[in-house]
Amino acid sequence: MSEAIIDAVRSRYGAVAKSGLSSEQDGVRAVAEAFGYSQEELASIPAGANPGLSCGNPIALAGLREGETVVDLGSGGGLDVFLAASKVGPTGRAVGIDMTPEMIELARRNAAKLEGAVSNVEFYQATIDELPLCDGTVDCVISNCVINLAPDKKGVFREVARVLKPGGRLAVSDIALKRPLPPEVLDNVPAYVACIAGAITAEEYRQGLLEAGFGEVMIVDSGADLNAYAQVDGQAGCCSPAMDVTVRGAIALVQLRRGRSMRSERVAHQQADQVTPLAPRARPHANAPFDARARFRDTSRQRA
Ligand SMILES: C[S@@+](CC[C@H](N)C(=O)[O-])C[C@H]1O[C@@H](n2cnc3c(N)ncnc32)[C@H](O)[C@@H]1O
Repeated sequence: MSEAIIDAVRSRYGAVAKSGLSSEQDGVRAVAEAFGYSQEELASIPAGANPGLSCGNPIALAGLREGETVVDLGSGGGLDVFLAASKVGPTGRAVGIDMTPEMIELARRNAAKLEGAVSNVEFYQATIDELPLCDGTVDCVISNCVINLAPDKKGVFREVARVLKPGGRLAVSDIALKRPLPPEVLDNVPAYVACIAGAITAEEYRQGLLEAGFGEVMIVDSGADLNAYAQVDGQAGCCSPAMDVTVRGAIALVQLRRGRSMRSERVAHQQADQVTPLAPRARPHANAPFDARARFRDTSRQRA
């Protein structure tokens, strides 16, 4: 199923990249604000860098410093890459990785809009389980609502560990499962593309990171409301406009969220109860999501 998944995900996000969704639309901006971005942050980057696909704000927990190299897994239109670039400054590097060619083109077009104001951003097309980066060269890896979409999550954690410097860190916002999904949803490609069927539990996340060599893993449930996506016209979940097929189980519930009936409200809550976003702990209000932050073991110090 892995190749079919990759193709479906690429096709869906390729369409989103060409959709023109941006912070200029109130609903799209509201999604990013609901997941922790300030109006000032959004105004500081090209509007098209935010097509409303985030589920948290990993920049808020990354603790980026001047001169650092930061890599964003699944960078989309460049939202977090541009924000990271201003934090690491001209002596640092902000690198975006995405497997969808249309997303890479969109991100590069957005970078061009900054007209040379930002010289430290780069975007490369690749899957996040095979990063085009050298071993031990990255200070911080960030990711926003992407790892749930990767079929080989162990491969992703292994690659992150490989590219990080000793003591380097990972800051992720993502969707985690609160409880197992029904088999008919697990095997459903549209549910996968909508960031549901590929999600794992927070405990699986923690185990995966520990197995990959991370020393400290902190995961916080943000409690953010996944219904935020319904503020975008015709959208019910992360990328769920793709769900124009009729399926049974939880996925159909998401599709129903498009409407405004009582039934739609009820099923949307059920869906939100099954999956929960991983996001920043630093968010001040009760809607703060699940947050995954990890530090890679510094074995060089242990040897010394
Ligand atoms: C939900 S969007 C999030 C985009 C961006 N992080 C944001 O918050 O706006 C997922 C992005 O990850 C990319 N993606 C999904 N699976 C991927 C994989 N296995 N390798 C690389 N990129 C992937 C998609 O092309 C898409 O741009």
